[in-house]
Amino acid sequence: MRILVTGGAGFIGSHVVDGFKAENHEVAVVDDLSAGNRANLDPAIKLYQCDIRDDALEAVFREFKPEVVDHHAAQSNVPASVSNPVHDASVNVLGTLNLLRLSATHGVKKFIYVSSGGAMYGEPDPTDLPVKETAPVRPLSPYGASKQAVEAWLGVYHRTFGLDYTVLRYANIYGPRQSIREEGAVVAVFATRMAADQPVTIDGTGQQTRDFVYVGDCVTANVAALERGSGMSVNIGTGRETSIRDIFEAMAEVAGYSHQPNFGPGRTGDVVRIVLDPSLAKRELNWEAKTGLHDGLAKTYAYFRNGR
Ligand SMILES: NC(=O)c1ccc[n+]([C@@H]2O[C@H](COP(=O)([O-])OP(=O)(O)OC[C@H]3O[C@@H](n4cnc5c(N)ncnc54)[C@H](O)[C@@H]3O)[C@@H](O)[C@H]2O)c1
Repeated sequence: MRILVTGGAGFIGSHVVDGFKAENHEVAVVDDLSAGNRANLDPAIKLYQCDIRDDALEAVFREFKPEVVDHHAAQSNVPASVSNPVHDASVNVLGTLNLLRLSATHGVKKFIYVSSGGAMYGEPDPTDLPVKETAPVRPLSPYGASKQAVEAWLGVYHRTFGLDYTVLRYANIYGPRQSIREEGAVVAVFATRMAADQPVTIDGTGQQTRDFVYVGDCVTANVAALERGSGMSVNIGTGRETSIRDIFEAMAEVAGYSHQPNFGPGRTGDVVRIVLDPSLAKRELNWEAKTGLHDGLAKTYAYFRNGR
């Protein structure tokens, strides 16, 4: 298949590109390199350096003629969405609409959209954990609201213009190539600090929990969504709730790091507990996260220790 991966020079998108190539698909990337890096991509991959909001995107569709659009490009920083919600909506809502419009008019057969389980559900009721897709959607940030808005637009494009889609609601993704500047990049930050034998600070008590998915498992979810999950939103999580303190301990073991962490102030608006129920993904995509936490952390640590 001819697959256009937006945000393909970024952390997750570049791994997805590698995964599609390994399955012998023809892949091209749209990325404005605002956060991504050409070095994340095999030099043989065609990169259209273009903003998804730009009119020039139409020429990309005309030239590459994608059968599938796999949309990872985003303003993906939650605090940045709080300080500039207009910019967030411009990229994440209007940019996506530009892609949807072009996909519907250029014969795209499937649109894979990356949403955020971490941001969509806000602070779930503890009795709803692990969160199913049917749980209330109550984002706490403009970033989460943008993801929610696009899910509504996808329904419109499906019902009214016949564009097929699958939404992948990612949990907390970690692995090689993650930028330490990225919001929620706690694994990358711990790995970088421990590799340099520097002090590590945990924001808040460390008891806050997340659902950590290794990026290689994200790749298999995208491959599965090429053929499955039509017209639905699916959690991409492990179902395992892991505290930040647990991540610290597990990474310290992998890294042979012997210092205790420091504790800083908690972050305003930080979700206390979140973990996603992956049973719909198992049923509809035949997907499950295969990488154990220890293995995923070891691969991530090896990458950061070697300076990439
Ligand atoms: N990292 C996570 O844990 C996580 C969790 C849930 C959802 N997501 C989603 O996954 C996707 C990829 O996130 P990531 O962590 O790899 O972030 P990333 O910042 O590494 O990747 C985003 C890419 O999009 C590109 N981009 C940004 N604005 C653009 C624009 N206007 N036009 C074209 N390209 C643009 C950036 O240059 C970058 O390469 C995003 O949609 C993000 O919201 C990530």
